[in-house]
Amino acid sequence: MPTLLLLNGPNLNLLGTREPGLYGSTTLADVEAQCRADAQRLGFELEAFQSNHEGALIDKIHEAGRRHKAGEIAGVVFNPGAFTHTSVAIFDAISGVKPLPVIEIHISNVHAREAFRHHSYVSPAAAGIVIGFGTEGYSLALEGLARKIAAAAR
Ligand code: DQA
Repeated sequence: MPTLLLLNGPNLNLLGTREPGLYGSTTLADVEAQCRADAQRLGFELEAFQSNHEGALIDKIHEAGRRHKAGEIAGVVFNPGAFTHTSVAIFDAISGVKPLPVIEIHISNVHAREAFRHHSYVSPAAAGIVIGFGTEGYSLALEGLARKIAAAAR
């Protein structure tokens, strides 16, 4: 079965206890379980990976690019956390594995927060963006990704 990759960046391992007023009380394990069920409903397997390290996330994107070419990974849902606002290297990694579709997702509405969160290095390389729907946004991102994959196959 084709596989979707759920990638979470720095500090998202703390979901559930980290600033619950902003990010909610759902844990990363809950999010991954929900996403696995969503993916199955959409006809995909799900693999999940979280890292606090920029290079590990970049390596995972490169691996996903190779596996996309091999027909194994159909697309990626990625919350890059604070690397969104700092990482040219992650922009380059996503650009370097095109046409692998990567949906950028943020739990909080970054545009309603500090000015330094208003710019994303990732967005210009993303196939789509979901912002501000809480952890439900992961389900919306998977749904949108599945539609993009279906449209590309037509
Ligand atoms: C976040 C928003 C980022 O600005 C922040 O650094 C995060 C989480 C979100 O999901 O809302 O770590 O990506």
